[in-house]
Amino acid sequence: RTIQHCELVTSAPDKSFWPESQLPEIVLAGRSNVGKSSFINTMVNRKKLAYVGNTPGKTRLLNFFNIDDTFLFVDVPGYGYANISKRQLQAFGQMMEDYFGTREQKIGLVLLVDARHKPSEDDITMMEYARYHHLPVVVVATKIDKLKRSEISKNMRKIASTLEIPETEIVQFSSETSKGREAVWKKIDELLES
Ligand code: GTP
Ligand code: MG
Repeated sequence: RTIQHCELVTSAPDKSFWPESQLPEIVLAGRSNVGKSSFINTMVNRKKLAYVGNTPGKTRLLNFFNIDDTFLFVDVPGYGYANISKRQLQAFGQMMEDYFGTREQKIGLVLLVDARHKPSEDDITMMEYARYHHLPVVVVATKIDKLKRSEISKNMRKIASTLEIPETEIVQFSSETSKGREAVWKKIDELLES
C-alpha cells in the first residue's frame, strides 16, 4: 500500500475549527503514549507526519489528517495521563461528545490499546461512545514487538474480554516492524466501502 499524499489539515481546539470537507473520517483514540502518532506515520509510511514524542501532549486538539483525498484520520489527544485537571477532563469530554454526537461523516473508530496492558476505564468509555453512536470499531494492539511470543495470546484474550469483543477482531500491530499495517488497511478499506 502506497500513500501518495497526506497532510495535517487542521488542529482544532473545538468544533468551530473542524474542516468543512465532506470526506469520510476515521477517528483514532487511545491512552496517552499508546503509539497513536507512530501508528499514523506507519500507516502512511512517513517518518514524521504526526509528532512522536516522549512527553504526553498537553494540548487538547483534534488533528485532522487528509489521506490521499480519500478520507481523514482524526487524531484524538491521548487520554488518561495523570496530571489532567477536572476542567481539562470536562473539555475533553465535551469535545468527544461534540464530535461523536454531531459529525456526520465519521465512519469508524480505531481504538489503540497497548498490547502489554489491560485496557483502561477510559478505553472502555471510548468503546461505549462508539457503540452508542453505532460506529464500527477496529481495535489495534500496539507495541506488539515488546511482547514475548508466549505472552501474546494471553494478552489478546485479556484485551478482548475487557472490551467485550472477539479476540479475532484485534489487530496485532507494531510501528517498529510494521506488523499489522496491511491488516489495518484492509479493515479501513472495508469501512470505506460500507
Ligand atoms: P501522545 O501523543 O503523547 O499521547 O503519544 P502517542 O500515543 O502519539 O504515542 P507516540 O506515537 O508518540 O509513541 C510513544 C512512544 O512509544 C514513543 O517513544 C514511540 O517510539 C514508542 N512506540 C510507539 N509505537 C511503538 C511500537 O509499535 N513499538 C515500540 N517498541 N515502540 C513504539
Ligand atoms: Mg501523539
